[in-house]
Amino acid sequence: MKKYTTWILVGIIVLLAAVLTGVLVFMKNQPVEERAFQPLVEIALMEPVSEKWGVNFPNQYTTFLKTETNNIDTTYAGSSQFSWLERDPRQVILFAGYAFSKDYNDDRGHANALTDVRATKRLNLNDEDPKHTPGTCYSCKSSNNPGIWSDIGMAEFDKMSFNELTPLINNSIGCANCHEAGTMRLIVTNPALKEALEAQGKDWETFTRQEMRTVVCANCHVEYYFKGDGKYLTFPWANGTEINQIIEYYEKSGFKDWDYPEAGTPMLKAQHPEFEFFTAGSTHYNAGVSCSDCHMPYMRDGAAKYSTHDVHSPLLNPEQACGQCHTDSEYVVRRVNLIQDQVATTKVETENAIIDAINAIKLAAANPNANQELLDQARNLHRKAQFMWDFVSAENSTGFHNPEYALKILADSTNLARQAQMLAAQSVNDMALLETGIYDKMDPKPVPAK
Ligand code: HEC
Ligand code: HEC
Ligand code: HEC
Ligand code: HEC
Repeated sequence: MKKYTTWILVGIIVLLAAVLTGVLVFMKNQPVEERAFQPLVEIALMEPVSEKWGVNFPNQYTTFLKTETNNIDTTYAGSSQFSWLERDPRQVILFAGYAFSKDYNDDRGHANALTDVRATKRLNLNDEDPKHTPGTCYSCKSSNNPGIWSDIGMAEFDKMSFNELTPLINNSIGCANCHEAGTMRLIVTNPALKEALEAQGKDWETFTRQEMRTVVCANCHVEYYFKGDGKYLTFPWANGTEINQIIEYYEKSGFKDWDYPEAGTPMLKAQHPEFEFFTAGSTHYNAGVSCSDCHMPYMRDGAAKYSTHDVHSPLLNPEQACGQCHTDSEYVVRRVNLIQDQVATTKVETENAIIDAINAIKLAAANPNANQELLDQARNLHRKAQFMWDFVSAENSTGFHNPEYALKILADSTNLARQAQMLAAQSVNDMALLETGIYDKMDPKPVPAK
């Protein structure tokens, strides 16, 4: 009897030990985050309401909310909505005939994206019928989008008008634009980005975490256009993401955003190509630095470390944004100032050259005897020169993200604009059209239309 009890006891102990070992091995194999983190609430996949995610992640949520009230400006950027047209009235001329000549404000924080897209005077400006403003304009403004795209598909979304989509969209940018609920990993949420990467033979699911800390911003901070009657959101990346490859793409597709009044040039508007600009061999990109390293640096809350979601100009917090890698953040900020001053000055010279080209082409186009072939060549160079200038101008870092690239593009653009002016003069055999610096002689200077 006693012998049996001993054996049973030994059996139980062996069994318990085995179970315990199993549990420990299982726990050890769990990913770090899942072990460390117990969610308070379950978050539905593609949940549009950021506040619900905020219950689990209060630090990320409260820092994200700050983007709504940020209002501090830097020399060339910052978080107020100053008007680019007032700051640089040359842009009123450069965008003549297009909505950007009427309303063009600087960007501000993520929590304002929805309010701002609804308020811009660019909506419906060229059209009596508000239905004609495409719903595609909502693509980068709301955390409702991932859910809607998954329900009806992006093609249907883009076919809807702005007004038809409005009732379905009630949140600004939020957690669902960048994260997968549950795993919280960074994801591609914009189908246009997925397709653009696929067109280059790339699958974002294979990207490293550090790559995703840049690619997640490419859901929105990119060059894009609305393709065809369905206004299908498309990134012009099939040839690659460098400026010449994008121009080549647009030349082949024949796409234009508008015709320049009186000159007749089929124009392109660049959007906000931060991703393409930064990844084109910049010093920081080549060194493996990501957008998030500078714009979402780590912060401390007691023992916890988290990424600030208060995304804004890094010049407002250089200690955190640059100090993690550069011992002297004052020095690198001075470097930024020098780079930006140089790019801003060069940019104005390019603008003057393009305005000279525009005036020459307008005069030539008004002359019935103009050589049309030469005039069309002039228009094509005007189209390219302005897109190149705009690529640097609409990119929001005033050259800092890739300084050499910015100066190279501006130099090439100025060169093309001067060639365009020359061809326009030749087309009517009138060398008076070669006059330069017309903008600076203009009095009064143009003011933005109301
Ligand atoms: C090495 C640091 C660094 C990296 C990496 C970086 N940025 Fe920036 N970014 C800056 C600086 C500096 C500015 C200029 C801010 C200013 O002029 O006030 C800036 C400006 C901006 C602005 C305009 C800010 C404003 O106040 O309007 C946006 C938008 C932006 N960056 C997005 C991105 C995106 C997207 C990426 C990645 C593709 C990126 N940045 C990578 C440092 C960085
Ligand atoms: C879902 C689209 C979307 C994603 C994803 C996104 N942005 Fe933005 N971002 C915007 C829009 C739209 C604005 C302008 C909002 C406005 O002006 O109302 C903006 C504005 C900004 C600004 C200017 C803020 C200010 O105060 O002036 C910075 C800087 C910025 N984004 C950086 C980033 C970085 C870095 C990433 C990636 C980590 C990123 N964004 C991801 C759409 C997005
Ligand atoms: C514009 C894109 C973007 C949005 C919007 C966004 N995040 Fe993030 N989030 C990031 C990036 C980038 C990281 C850094 C991820 C990494 O390093 O792997 C991050 C990291 C995190 C992490 C991991 C821990 C940390 O802080 O590094 C959590 C949790 C998180 N975010 C929660 C949220 C919540 C909650 C929201 C909504 C209130 C939100 N995020 C909105 C881009 C975003
Ligand atoms: C994650 C690390 C990291 C962060 C964050 C970072 N940098 Fe850098 N930075 C680098 C590296 C690496 C280099 C290249 C160093 C080299 O080649 O000597 C560099 C180079 C530079 C240079 C010299 C570039 C050149 O081409 O001459 C400047 C200026 C600079 N950084 C400014 C900044 C500013 C401003 C910030 C903050 C907004 C910043 N960096 C944030 C890593 C970083």
